[in-house]
Amino acid sequence: MSTAGLDRSAVNALDIGWVRSQFPSLQAHVNGQPAAFLDGPAGTQVPTQVMHAIQSYLMGANANTCGAFLTSRRTDEMLSGARAAMADFFHCAAEEVVFGQNMTTITFSIARAIGRELKPGDEILLTTLDHDANFSPWKALEEKGVVIRQVDVREEDCTLDLEDLKNKLNEKTKLVAVGYASNAVGTINPVAEITRLAHAAGALVFIDAVHYAPHGLIDVKVLDCDFLVCSPYKFFGPHMGTLYGKAQHLRGFRPYKVRPCTEQIPERWETGTQVHEVIAGIGAAVEYLAELGRRCDTSVTTRRDALGAAYRATVAYERRLIARLIEGLQTIPGARIYGIADPKRFEERCSTLSLRIGAHNPTTIAAFLGERGIFTWDGNYYALNLTERLGVESQGGLLRIGLVHYNTMEEVERLLAALHEFAAK
Ligand SMILES: Cc1ncc(COP(=O)(O)O)c(C=O)c1O
Repeated sequence: MSTAGLDRSAVNALDIGWVRSQFPSLQAHVNGQPAAFLDGPAGTQVPTQVMHAIQSYLMGANANTCGAFLTSRRTDEMLSGARAAMADFFHCAAEEVVFGQNMTTITFSIARAIGRELKPGDEILLTTLDHDANFSPWKALEEKGVVIRQVDVREEDCTLDLEDLKNKLNEKTKLVAVGYASNAVGTINPVAEITRLAHAAGALVFIDAVHYAPHGLIDVKVLDCDFLVCSPYKFFGPHMGTLYGKAQHLRGFRPYKVRPCTEQIPERWETGTQVHEVIAGIGAAVEYLAELGRRCDTSVTTRRDALGAAYRATVAYERRLIARLIEGLQTIPGARIYGIADPKRFEERCSTLSLRIGAHNPTTIAAFLGERGIFTWDGNYYALNLTERLGVESQGGLLRIGLVHYNTMEEVERLLAALHEFAAK
């Protein structure tokens, strides 16, 4: 098995027994077989800490904000604690963290606010690799005369065509919206470089980090992006979305809001009453990752450093799983992997991949695996531009396998055996 780029000490540091013991839902069975949750890109399972935080908020702090009584004060404290946790997660100030219903809703609201300031002929650059939630909200601004341009992907390895991006960036480009990692094929985009190029052209950068968040440490200071959005339910938290926005932009752009709502940031961007119990769970999800990091590296002191240690361990662990998965898939008759398959380039991908087996409809394969307790996804997973570009949209799209740090090598082997069985039918 190839182990290119592996950090051995970090691999040993991840205690998979402890990790799995934190996630009660992983104990599920289907038709007498243990469930293998390879559906992380559509939403990960949650650790006990998250469930407890939600329950404990509802039991002892359930109220609206800013009231002059105990449970309201507790709600305010919980919200600032969760915001501080997400600030450590993004590496920004707490006032730069906005909570919202989900990434899609947040992106529509930011696009509407930015769109208010654009004029006909202004350009926005999007990509063919992105999830539709980082495409359609911007595309809707065509109604205002905004020109949408689209960066192509290289079909052979499903990476962004950076030459195309450079050619399409110009003085009219006002914003570049790009994904950090592809939820379909696992490609990690060079978002720091893209941000540098966009800023040099005078454009803002909006990064969709939904798929990257469970797979790598986000550092908005290093990236220097203007906005970055992700969804806690993809990184072991409950169903909600969160946004990082540079303070100057959160102050400068104008959200659509009700009059009594404060003009303070970040609250002016948070429409109506938030889902407080879920926000309590978000704080706990960040704490879970920090606890994992402290277990992997006992020398860390701050929560941010603990998050760094957690991701060092999970990246190395996931890379081992994806290396074995790709190696095994290459022996399955008719299997075609979409995306980077060369172990020397694994730093450019995370542990999510898509494939097809001959002319089989991916739904048939997913159902075959599902019967055996192996949960995968099929179709376009809303990466619609990509499945169309790859010519598979009209044939049922792709089969997606998403590995996160609670998955195991045994699950990968079970999946490979089941796919061999399917291909031999
Ligand atoms: C890469 C990516 N971006 C955006 C989204 C949309 O996120 P949400 O469900 O929070 O709106 C998803 C969801 O699958 C995703 O994978």
